[in-house]
Parts: sequence; C-alpha cells; structure tokens
Amino acid sequence: MRNILEHPEPLSGATYSAVELMPGDAQLLMMDQRLLPSEEKYLTLTRAVEVADAISRLVVRGAPAIGIAAAYGLVLAAREAPRDSGEFIESLRPAASALRRTRPTAVNLAWALDRMMRAACDAAALAPEVRVGLLAAEARAIHREDVAACVAMGKVGAAHVGDGATVLTHCNAGALATGGYGTALGVVRAARSQGKRVKVVACETRPVLQGARLTAWELSRDGFDVTLITDSMVAQLMRRGGVDLVVVGADRVARSGDVANKIGTYGVACLAHAHRIPFYVAAPWSTVDLACPDGAAIPIEQRHEDEVLSFAGAVVAPAGVRADNPAFDVTPARLVTALFTERGEAKPPSEETLAALAH
Ligand code: MRU
Repeated sequence: MRNILEHPEPLSGATYSAVELMPGDAQLLMMDQRLLPSEEKYLTLTRAVEVADAISRLVVRGAPAIGIAAAYGLVLAAREAPRDSGEFIESLRPAASALRRTRPTAVNLAWALDRMMRAACDAAALAPEVRVGLLAAEARAIHREDVAACVAMGKVGAAHVGDGATVLTHCNAGALATGGYGTALGVVRAARSQGKRVKVVACETRPVLQGARLTAWELSRDGFDVTLITDSMVAQLMRRGGVDLVVVGADRVARSGDVANKIGTYGVACLAHAHRIPFYVAAPWSTVDLACPDGAAIPIEQRHEDEVLSFAGAVVAPAGVRADNPAFDVTPARLVTALFTERGEAKPPSEETLAALAH
C-alpha cells in the first residue's frame, strides 16, 4: 500500500469517498479512515490481498463500504488471473475467500462477493481484458446502486423526521460507511434537503470511536449541527428530553427483523424503548439476509482485545487484564420501530413485513 494525497473523483458526486476504482481498473483508492479526523489521506491498493488486509484493519469499514471494497478487490484479483478461461474462476476463489473471512457480521460483504463471482462465471470464456472490464463494470454498478439505495431510503426515513428534530445516532452509518450519502446519515441529509432543521447527537462509539472520529467529521464537514456525547450519556440525555428519534445503520438484518449493528446499539435501543423514543434502522436491501432466521444466527465478529485495553494509542488497563471485544450486538425486532430501505419501510421489521418488501 502506498500513501498518496491525490483525491479521487467520487462516483457518488461528493467531495470525498471511502473507496474508488480509478480509471484503468488497476488502482483502488481508499481513504484511510483510521487517520480521521486528523488526516484525509488516500491509499492506493493494487492487489486483492491488500484490500482484504485493509478491510480487516478498518482502513475501510461500514457494511456497504466493505462490500464495495471487496467487489473492487476481486477486480484486482481478476487482473492477476491466468489467461486460460478454465483456470480463471478457480484462480479467483482464494481472493474471494480471503476477502469474505475479513469481517463475518456484515452480510453486504458476502452478498457483493457472491454477485461478483456470478459475474466472473459469466465472463470466464471471454478475453482477459474484456473479463476485467466486465467485472469492473459490475463492481461499479454495486457501488452506484448503493448510493442510489442510500438516497432512496433517506427519503423514506426523512418522512419520520420532524422540523427541528434532534436525531441520535450510534457509530458511523454515513457516506464513509457506504458508496456515499449514508444510510442513517442519509436520512439526516434527506431531511435537511427537504428544508427541515435537524440536529444530530453522535455517540462516540467505543472502542474505536467511529462516532467521534467519523460521524462528527462528515457531519461537521457538511455543515450539520452535530453534538458529540460519550456512550454513557445516552440515558441521561434521553431522560432530559434531548432526543426525538434514534436512527442507526445495520450490518445484517435477519428474517425475523432482528438487527446486528455496532456494539452498543442494543443498549441505545433499550433506552429508547424505556423513554418512548422511536428507534429506526436504515439499511439497503443488501443488508437484509432472509436466509438468516433470527439474531441468534448472526455471526458476531470478535476483535482483538487491544482495541479495548488501549485508547488513542495509550494503554488504559493494568498489564495482564483481559478484555472482551465483540464488534457488534443484536437488537431484537420488537425494539425497532421501523426499518427504512430503498424498497420502502418495514414497520416494524418482521418476517411478514420483510416478505412484503422482498418481491
Ligand atoms: O465496525 P464498523 O465500523 O464496520 O461498524 C459499522 C457499523 O456498525 C455501521 O453502523 C453499519 O455497518 C452500517 S454502515 C451504513
């Protein structure tokens, strides 16, 4: 991976982007989100193995964004594939498996890789340059469709945001976590574009601070009124009447309507329920996993304990103390007021309401 300062031209039309395949299909530009908010720096990646490593290390994160990054990763793998069409698919499988293994909870990752492998099968008999071009077109289509889905679900969700509302969100489900525009933050963007005044409260989101570093960065950059709180302040803020609604993203929505999202989301949902505050989830249909029966069947990624044992590079616990670090939790469907998708809303999410959107 090479550090570069040059800026891609985002496919979303925004002024920054999580990931972008450059013209020529040989270089993937990825914003290094670990450096935000201090530095806005893009890395150039040319191999699928580098993309897998970047996803594991949270250079890029957020369910839709890692699906898009993995799709572009397979384009890079296709460039290295043998010319022989018989060996083409087999040669892509190790890259697809390495990408798939990086983060197990976000179903968008497996969804995007499955779609790319189907496109690869269709392209296998063609000339190598044509194959790569077709795969690049498919990956860009995944990227473009995600932006469109965010804009569409934003409109669906904005109908629930009143003028002057304060929206609480957890983690980062914004432009940085998607092809652009965002899911939860797409709802906020859509509400503003409808002329509503909207304020956002962002939970800092321990252990790696996606709320403080990323949500606060992209909202303040776009001129939103954003207030940062520590995760432990949610209950008190809700009791004081400081939150009108909660909108979060999702890494996987099971057939039952149970939702996996960043660790801490379940706690926010319980608090919203206790204070009679609507709790909404915004996610593209690629996050809905109808093959997964319920929350108990969602694999929860366990990350390294060092993320909890240290903070901003400083050790915060005595030597020898162990830490637990599940990256996600599951909010039961009964705590979710509605799920916003590009197909409409599931209110509340359930096997029946999701089936109605499935066609
Ligand atoms: O560990 P992360 O930063 O990848 O977790 C991200 C989240 O939990 C997001 O809320 C989710 O992926 C939805 S992003 C539109």
